[in-house]
Amino acid sequence: MEEKSKRLMLVFFLVMSATFRFCFSAQSQPPPKKRSTQSTADNRFGSSAVFPVTGNSYPLGYYSVSLSIGNPPKLYDLDIDTGSDLTWVQCDAPCSGCTKPRDNLYNPRGNRVPCKDPLCSAIHLPANLQCETPDDQCDYEVEYADHGSSLGVLVIDHIPLRLTNGSILGPRLAFGCGYDQRNPSPNPLPPTAGVLGLGNGKVSIMSQLHDLGLTQNVLGHCLSGRGGGFLFLGDDLVPSSGISWAPMSHNSLEKHYSSGPAELLFGRKSTGVRGLQVVFDSGSSYTYFSSQAYKTTLDLVRGGLTEKPLKDTTEDQTLPICWRGTKPLKTVHEVKDYFKPLLLSFSKNVQLHLPPEAYLIVTEHGNVCLGILNGTEVGLGDFNIIGDISLQDKMVIYDNEKQQIGWASADCDRLPNADRNYNEGFWQPYAADFGILQETELLPTAEKSKRHAL
Ligand SMILES: *[C@@H]1O[C@H](CO)[C@@H](O)[C@H](O)[C@H]1NC(C)=O
Ligand SMILES: *[C@@H]1O[C@H](CO)[C@@H](O)[C@H](O)[C@H]1NC(C)=O
Repeated sequence: MEEKSKRLMLVFFLVMSATFRFCFSAQSQPPPKKRSTQSTADNRFGSSAVFPVTGNSYPLGYYSVSLSIGNPPKLYDLDIDTGSDLTWVQCDAPCSGCTKPRDNLYNPRGNRVPCKDPLCSAIHLPANLQCETPDDQCDYEVEYADHGSSLGVLVIDHIPLRLTNGSILGPRLAFGCGYDQRNPSPNPLPPTAGVLGLGNGKVSIMSQLHDLGLTQNVLGHCLSGRGGGFLFLGDDLVPSSGISWAPMSHNSLEKHYSSGPAELLFGRKSTGVRGLQVVFDSGSSYTYFSSQAYKTTLDLVRGGLTEKPLKDTTEDQTLPICWRGTKPLKTVHEVKDYFKPLLLSFSKNVQLHLPPEAYLIVTEHGNVCLGILNGTEVGLGDFNIIGDISLQDKMVIYDNEKQQIGWASADCDRLPNADRNYNEGFWQPYAADFGILQETELLPTAEKSKRHAL
């Protein structure tokens, strides 16, 4: 565990794979059924899905949910990523970069999405997708900001969901079957089976659920600083008050959620750093500031430590900037008084508070390190990424209906009170039953199709 994961999953571009690496032998399969386009659900209580989350920002570096896919369903651990929109799982096909045992890979059974499907064009934007023949498979490639990538084919399958109104649905949703994953960064890939892409593109599970008329296009997460938390798709858990809302920035080509411009404050005083575009990215373990904001933050944090019992250390390789105390530290709370809060101030006095716990980590070596990294150094340009470390212990809501991002301090170890008329039993520990189905609760009869000869 020397190298800690610094997962960074904001997608920067999607590339059409020019050559078809392999073809599913799907000739005898009927094309996927047309997805129905009923009118949007009438905001009734109950049409949301809630998932328990596992993981932490340190030492694991990611938060994940267990999603069941297929008929009969199998569970897949997926990294929660609001920085990209394509969900994919490792594919039971001749596969490189598949880390899971074969039994835990997704086995495509002729359920590929054809090239002519609008979702296929959507994942290739801004390029103009040319299908050689309309029934070709839909190849995809996603590349993440850390230069990791997944290459595969778009498939469609049942994703059983238990809604908060008690209904169990098995909508057919499109996702990627990834048969070539690469990770050039020195940090190991998380041991998840893929990515749950919750960004704002057409292909995200969230947009698909919305287009099927099942949920509002609203999602949120509450990531606990003690690890775990919950994720919700739909708007039932959105509190009716107490949320700070900032408008989403518009750029139809971006799949991630951003807001801005914001001003950076340190200890409630202006730092002179303004005009920041801020991306909310649950797929990033740490927070990244662009060069000027980073330098300013580093100088101010360092300045605040003179005559404090914390000394620079370069022995801790966990992160670039660390300090050691007079004795090994166990929690941030032992030193948080030496650090001032950071604050991002958006228009109309909407503020994102980053107390010391939201930008510091105490490492396994007992040192305290800055969880804000130099984004310019890793090629993020002018983006400022708010990663898991700074999203912790907040409910963060991505409201695509009203085009706004919201947050509020929250206890993520339990489901929130959303000021709504919950049914009895809703307060039971959500880990028991929400969102996911156990493998024993099968949907009606799966037609057994033979394995692919690949
Ligand atoms: C729950 O919500 C879903 C999606 O809106 C709907 O299809 C289903 O009929 C609802 N179930 C109940 C019991 O109201
Ligand atoms: C941040 O990274 C940029 C690009 O590598 C570099 O020029 C700059 O000096 C770095 N800032 C600090 C404070 O290290």
